[in-house]
Amino acid sequence: MVGRLEGKNAIVTGAAGGIGLETTILMLREGASVLMTDINETTLTSALEKVNKIIPSTSRTGKVETKAVDVSQESQIEAAIAHLDSWGGLDVIFNNAGIMHPKDGDAEECPEDIWDRTMNINVKGVWFGSKHAVRAFRRHGKKRASVINTASMVALVGAATPQLAYTASKGAVLAMTRELAIVHAREGFRFNSLCPAPLNTPLLQDWLGDDKEKRFRREVHFPSGRFGEAIEQAHAVIFLASDESSFVNATDFVVDGGLTKAYVTPEGPATEAPRNLAS
Ligand SMILES: NC(=O)c1ccc[n+]([C@@H]2O[C@H](COP(=O)([O-])OP(=O)(O)OC[C@H]3O[C@@H](n4cnc5c(N)ncnc54)[C@H](O)[C@@H]3O)[C@@H](O)[C@H]2O)c1
Repeated sequence: MVGRLEGKNAIVTGAAGGIGLETTILMLREGASVLMTDINETTLTSALEKVNKIIPSTSRTGKVETKAVDVSQESQIEAAIAHLDSWGGLDVIFNNAGIMHPKDGDAEECPEDIWDRTMNINVKGVWFGSKHAVRAFRRHGKKRASVINTASMVALVGAATPQLAYTASKGAVLAMTRELAIVHAREGFRFNSLCPAPLNTPLLQDWLGDDKEKRFRREVHFPSGRFGEAIEQAHAVIFLASDESSFVNATDFVVDGGLTKAYVTPEGPATEAPRNLAS
């Protein structure tokens, strides 16, 4: 059976865990070759071990490699994308790496250095990834290519639990992605933003810890009664990366279990969550 991403070369940033890791596995399952990148080399190495265990080389058509990349450093992103030149050139980039710093807060609380750091990774990183992706698509004469940039649902609704730098950075991702989508539409390069709801990944869960009140304040807003899982985002990314979504462009692709459309949510037990493959 031919996979939905057969023959495509992809880069995933922030691939060492969460959404990036689940997406890597699904991409390989669908026939892509994947360069996993992350700032954290140690977790990247253990992520690769998990990937090879779940989808060994004998059961896939594409290859998987890793490269340490800090997305806020343009030269590193550029080198990662150039690494795929010998594979036949980039077809898909998932600009997914992002941070939500614990010192982020409201307008008074958020320190300037945290604001700058958040913007450098969450916004500049996506810009660099998009910029060098376009150059690579052109270099290889690609007529169909897909860029998926991770934003967040917090860029669509206001929250009284402020993380101003993070929210502003994700709003910038939405606006930037929309504009890139329109600029490059006739070249066949599609750009979509992924807008996840709060997830059951370390990025948020480590921060929430055992604080039941903090946790409930968020959970009550989910119509499904639970946080999302990384794999539920990864499935959406596969669709956006594949040619199945050839007429899907410039969207704020919301994967939130209905959260942003809810006023009063149902009572009763939460729905069952799917199992992640690795994270
Ligand atoms: N978890 C959530 O609740 C949630 C909700 C909405 C959006 N998001 C977004 O989803 C994306 C993935 O998050 P996740 O939930 O999988 O969290 P995660 O923390 O598991 O993954 C983020 C990855 O990015 C990497 N990273 C951090 N800084 C980097 C840098 N400068 N260069 C390269 N890599 C870097 C981290 O090492 C980590 O592996 C992020 O952009 C995040 O903002 C997450």
